[in-house]
Amino acid sequence: MTRPLKVGIAGLGTVGASVIRILERRNETVTQRGGRSVEVMAVSARDKAKDRGIDLSPFTWFDDPVDLARSADVDCVVELVGGADGAAFEVVQTALSHGRHVVTANKALLAKHGLALAKLAESKGVSISFEASVAGGIPIIKTLREALPGNEVSRLYGILNGTCNYILSRMELEGLTFQECLKDAQRLGYAEADPTFDVEGFDTAHKLAILTSLAFGTEIDAEAIYVEGISSITPLDLAMAKELGFRIKLLGVAERTDTGIEQRVHPTMVPRTSSIAQVMGVTNAVTIDADAVRELTLIGPGAGGDATASAVVADIADLAAGVAQPLFGKPVDQLEKAPRAPMQRHEGGYYIRLTVHDRPGVAAGVATRMAEEDISLESILQKRSEIAATQDPHGRSGAPVSLVLITYAATEASIRSAVEKISRDGLIAEPPQVIRIERD
Ligand SMILES: NC(=O)c1ccc[n+]([C@@H]2O[C@H](COP(=O)([O-])OP(=O)(O)OC[C@H]3O[C@@H](n4cnc5c(N)ncnc54)[C@H](OP(=O)(O)O)[C@@H]3O)[C@@H](O)[C@H]2O)c1
Repeated sequence: MTRPLKVGIAGLGTVGASVIRILERRNETVTQRGGRSVEVMAVSARDKAKDRGIDLSPFTWFDDPVDLARSADVDCVVELVGGADGAAFEVVQTALSHGRHVVTANKALLAKHGLALAKLAESKGVSISFEASVAGGIPIIKTLREALPGNEVSRLYGILNGTCNYILSRMELEGLTFQECLKDAQRLGYAEADPTFDVEGFDTAHKLAILTSLAFGTEIDAEAIYVEGISSITPLDLAMAKELGFRIKLLGVAERTDTGIEQRVHPTMVPRTSSIAQVMGVTNAVTIDADAVRELTLIGPGAGGDATASAVVADIADLAAGVAQPLFGKPVDQLEKAPRAPMQRHEGGYYIRLTVHDRPGVAAGVATRMAEEDISLESILQKRSEIAATQDPHGRSGAPVSLVLITYAATEASIRSAVEKISRDGLIAEPPQVIRIERD
C-alpha cells in the first residue's frame, strides 16, 4: 500500500478537535476509499495544557503553528485557527511555500487573500481545499467545482449564516424583536458577544465571495459585494411578509446580469412556498439556478464542530485519494475578471413599508412619487397599529399608519430616488423600510 498521507493540524478548537475524533473513527473508510491511510503527525494550538477531550500524546506538539506548517513530517496542513490575517495567514502561506497541501475552513482568509494564495499554490504544485469554509457540513464547494460542468449557472443564493436565520425564524414564529432574539442566540452560543460580523451580513459576504468565484469562474471579489444586515427588521415586517405570502431571510445572492456579476447580501423577501423559505433555525441552504439542472437546493448544518469537521475530513480524504482541484475550479490565469454590476442598477421587486401620517392626500402623494420614477405597484396595503385601531376606531386622529407597497420589477436607483422624495415631502413619520424581493 502507498505510504500514508501525513497531516498536521493547526488549531484544536471546536472544529480541530472534531477532525481528530472523526479521523480516528473513520480512518478505515478513508483508507479504503483513497487506497491510502491518513495519519495525524503533528498538532498546534495556543495552550498545550488545555483539556480538549482528546489524547494528544501520539502527536508531535508545536507551540508555533508556523513551525508545524514548515515541518518536513507533514504532507498536508489543516488550518483551523481562523481569522483573515495573523497566525492563520502565516500558517497557510508557509505551508504552501514549503510545498504542503492546505485544507482550511477559513472563509475570511480566502475572501481576503484567496487569489494570492491560489497563485502561490499553483506555483508550488499543491492544492488548497476549503469545503468547510462555506455552509459547514453542506458539500457546496464540491457541488459547484465538480458536479456541474454541464451547466451554466445563472444565479446562486443562499442562507449562509445560521445566527441570522435563527434570529429571523424566532422573530417570525414568536413575534419577538431583533434584540430579544439576539440575546437568546448569544445565550445559546449561536451568536458571538460582538455579533456585528454575523448580523450585519459580513460573514455571509465572505462566503458569497467564494461561491461567486466558483459558480461563475471569476476572480474572487469580496469588495464588490453590497452588504446590508438584519438589525433593522421588525416583527411588523415579518408579519407583513407572512400576509403577503413571503418570508424574510438574510440571503447572499450572486447573479450574472447584463451589466456584470451582481453580488449582494441583504434581508430578502422570498416566496413562502420556495425551498429556501422552508429553512428555519440555524440551518443553512444554497440554491443554484443553472441551465441543465434548472434548480438545485442543498440544505444542511452550516456550523458546529462535527458538521464542519465532516467537510474538513472530506477534503483530507480527497487528498489521500489524489483528487486535487485548482482553488477556484480553474487555473488562476483562466479566471474571468468580471465587471462588477453596480447595486444602483439592480432590478427586482421591492417591499416598501412607509409609516405615513394618516391624512387625506398622503397615499396619492406616495403614488405620484412612485409613478415619477416609473415604478409600478403590484399591491398596496394599509395597516393601522392595533393600539391606534382601538383608541381611534375611525382613524380621525391622523396618527401614523403603515403603508406597505409591493412593486413590480424596478431598479434600485429608482426606488431609492422615490423613497428619498417621499421623505423630503414630509409624508412619513419614521425612516422607510425597504426589503428586496427575490423570486424563485
Ligand atoms: N465552529 C464552527 O462551527 C465553524 C463553522 C465553519 C467554519 N469554521 C471555521 O473554522 C475555523 C476554526 O473555527 P473554530 O470554531 O474551531 O475556532 P476555535 O474553537 O476558536 O479554535 C481556534 C483554535 O486555534 C487555536 N489558535 C488560535 N490562535 C492561535 C495562534 N496564534 N497560534 C496557535 N493556535 C492558535 C486555538 O488554540 P487554543 O485552543 O489553545 O486557544 C484553538 O485551538 C475558523 O476559520 C472558522 O471560521 C468554524
